[in-house]
Amino acid sequence: MTDAASTPDPYTTAGKLADLKARYHEAVTASGEAAIAKQHAKGKKTARERIEQLLDQGSFVELDEFVRHRTHAFGMERNRPYGDAVVTGTGTIHGRQVAIYAQDFTIFGGSLGEVAGEKIIKVMELALKTGVPIIGMLDSGGARIQEGVVALGKYGEIFRLNTKASGVIPQISIIMGPAAGGAVYSPALTDFVIMVDKTSQMFVTGPDVIKTVTGEDVAMEDLGGALTHNTRSGVAHYLADDEDDALDYARSLISFLPDNNMSESVVYENEVELEVTDADKSLNTIIPDSPNQPYDVHTIIEQLVDNSDFLEVQPLFAPNILIGFARIEGRSVGIIANQPNQMAGTLNIEAGEKAARFVRFCDAFGIPVLTLVDVPGYLPGTDQEWTGVIRRGAKLLYAYAEATVPLVTVITRKAYGGAYIVMGSKQLGADINFAWPTAEIAVMGGQGAVNILYRGEIKAAEERGEDVNAVRTRLANEYTYNVASPFLAAERGELDGVIEPAATRVAIIKALRALRGKRAELPPKKHGNIPL
Ligand code: HXC
Repeated sequence: MTDAASTPDPYTTAGKLADLKARYHEAVTASGEAAIAKQHAKGKKTARERIEQLLDQGSFVELDEFVRHRTHAFGMERNRPYGDAVVTGTGTIHGRQVAIYAQDFTIFGGSLGEVAGEKIIKVMELALKTGVPIIGMLDSGGARIQEGVVALGKYGEIFRLNTKASGVIPQISIIMGPAAGGAVYSPALTDFVIMVDKTSQMFVTGPDVIKTVTGEDVAMEDLGGALTHNTRSGVAHYLADDEDDALDYARSLISFLPDNNMSESVVYENEVELEVTDADKSLNTIIPDSPNQPYDVHTIIEQLVDNSDFLEVQPLFAPNILIGFARIEGRSVGIIANQPNQMAGTLNIEAGEKAARFVRFCDAFGIPVLTLVDVPGYLPGTDQEWTGVIRRGAKLLYAYAEATVPLVTVITRKAYGGAYIVMGSKQLGADINFAWPTAEIAVMGGQGAVNILYRGEIKAAEERGEDVNAVRTRLANEYTYNVASPFLAAERGELDGVIEPAATRVAIIKALRALRGKRAELPPKKHGNIPL
């Protein structure tokens, strides 16, 4: 029933303001309570709740809330909710501007039709124009079936913009529901993909299609769940326990990144101690006497960075190499470290690709790279050779060799063969290289080398009835001491210093200070041709 007294004349200013208010209310409540309840029952938040939590309180400014689709197919003209199936806009994280979009599963299953696509494209263009990170929260049935090729075309435009923005603004995707079909390629083109455990899935073809085409039976979660993409495929960079965790991780990530490739990461206030501290001295005992005994490289990283705060990226994929962000003297650094307690820290295809993409991200965004080396070599085997360790392993070489950001490398223990070169060696372009006295740098490890160099002596010892293992160990130790000594590398200038582990934190601070003004340029070219 219309209450004439409370409904202002629509031709007056008051009437127009009331109309705006009513329409805005309609826009923010378009999904309806039942759909929201269904979303909550799955352990998922709505698009607006996610935005609210991701951004600083009260900072969200919505765009295009009155956009509506123009489709007539399948009776769609009878259902034209304001805003369509995505909420877009700008806001701040830690006080810094970002652009965001959140697909709204409660409207047409978050599917992407013409206008939802246009909204995403518009906010991405705004992010590019203003040089701020773009964060997408994905929860969608993919291309809107009713809109056919028009929907597909919008995906094409989004992919093109993702590519244009790559290396210009940081792009983060948070998968908070389904991402099916070709729609997965927008997140794949972004820098970081965060997935929520149990409630997010990514796949190009779903279980039904797989069953029909190949006869293979696979459950949705096994096929494309968050665990799968964090541990097996390497598509995702973080496995969030729940949506809160995913949003927190995205906020932390942003704190380490610059707004764009022309600006610097925020410098956080942090007075550092420039003398060796008692805590630094713990590094003097971290390397075990036995070369085969592992240790956890996290311990070293935590001692070197501000407040032991290390935000690891892709921790569950190729755990034999660690990548992540930290701050040193308040400034962001990217850290790459072999992990001796996983596969002895050997390099394999997955580790190479993981680290290569990270080096390239840091280089694109002016974030210095600190490399901690303890690598016995490449993982041997036909599996590696036949799946392309040559082609795919070359990516890490390419990434380091091409990088122009400050590169500081510390060899803590093993640095053998090609793995020595690839892990941020001087010859590949690192600026300042240190080694600990425990470093072993040579073409190969002691055991391998004595088998080749001292084959005759070992055989003779065997014939004399001596303990062959003891002979081999003695020769290997001599080789490691004499041939693999870091002082030989230092003599050649291939290291800038052999330092006490306890002095490493201060040495890195001073190295990064020295490199702050680094200028390096690559020859003009359209783009290189990284082995893919
Ligand atoms: C239109 C869609 C839709 C779509 C879901 N909906 N996907 N509408 N186009 N692509 C609608 C449903 O009809 C339903 O509407 C509502 O969203 C919720 O969907 P449900 O199926 O009820 O939800 P749920 O059981 O949770 O299943 C979610 C789902 C499933 C797994 C995503 O909806 C699904 O399989 N959808 C199709 C996925 C797909 O194959 N998309 C195309 C991918 S190919 P009502 O009105 O009933 O609430 C692609 C190409 C991109 O995207 C190419 C880029 C180059």
